[in-house]
Amino acid sequence: FKPDRVAAMGPGPLYLRLRRLLEEAITGGLIGEGEAIPTERDIAELADLSRVTVRRAVDDLVKQGRLIRRHGSGTFVAPSVARVEQSLSLLTSFTEDMARRGLSSRSEWLERAVVAPSPDEMMVLGLSVGDMVSRLERLRIAGDVPMAIERASIIGTYLPDPASVSGSLYDALEERSARPIRATQRISARNLDEREAVLLKVAPGEAALYIERVSYLPGGRVIEFTRSVYRGDAYDFVAELKIPE
Ligand code: GLP
Repeated sequence: FKPDRVAAMGPGPLYLRLRRLLEEAITGGLIGEGEAIPTERDIAELADLSRVTVRRAVDDLVKQGRLIRRHGSGTFVAPSVARVEQSLSLLTSFTEDMARRGLSSRSEWLERAVVAPSPDEMMVLGLSVGDMVSRLERLRIAGDVPMAIERASIIGTYLPDPASVSGSLYDALEERSARPIRATQRISARNLDEREAVLLKVAPGEAALYIERVSYLPGGRVIEFTRSVYRGDAYDFVAELKIPE
């Protein structure tokens, strides 16, 4: 934390440069997972910065989930998430996926409403003017770790009351009518925007997988159109390949 090391992390305000230096120390393994970083007073002294500047840099990394502040004992490097291996050939729900790994899952609701469909929802779900769609946007959490943001659109007639969904969406659909038995999924690479990064507790711009799922009921009728962002540092998608016939 020498002043010239901080200065070399430019451009931008001093707190940003210090934040970059801290990030580098964490990413480079100089300060390992679970280890404490020096106290804010020590960093301020070493780097010849004001306490306010140091606090701001540390605060940012706490907000991003890279550092954890424990009152009375210091600030520590957060453990990185264990990667989840996710099959690309099985149609499962998030709740089931996590349960199979012995993890509890929960969701924070970001939106839960019955609305008029957007043009893309109309197209994918085969809706007409006057039809409604139930929108459920959730932050999906496994244990304590935010894993994904999912924005599900369900044809209104299959789920007229999205407020009734408390846990698994697929369980709720099964109770009401039927759960999907087939789906197509498209995966592409994305970088997280500011809002997504805050929710997923990672730095803005971090890598993510953008996943679109369209799923179908036993009779072949489409029921779900879900757009999600999954943390790039938390998922490995795995598929079994066969030689073409
Ligand atoms: C997965 C899929 C989503 C689906 C969700 C249902 O995460 N990517 O398309 O909506 O599972 O999960 P649950 O039943 O746990 O709400």
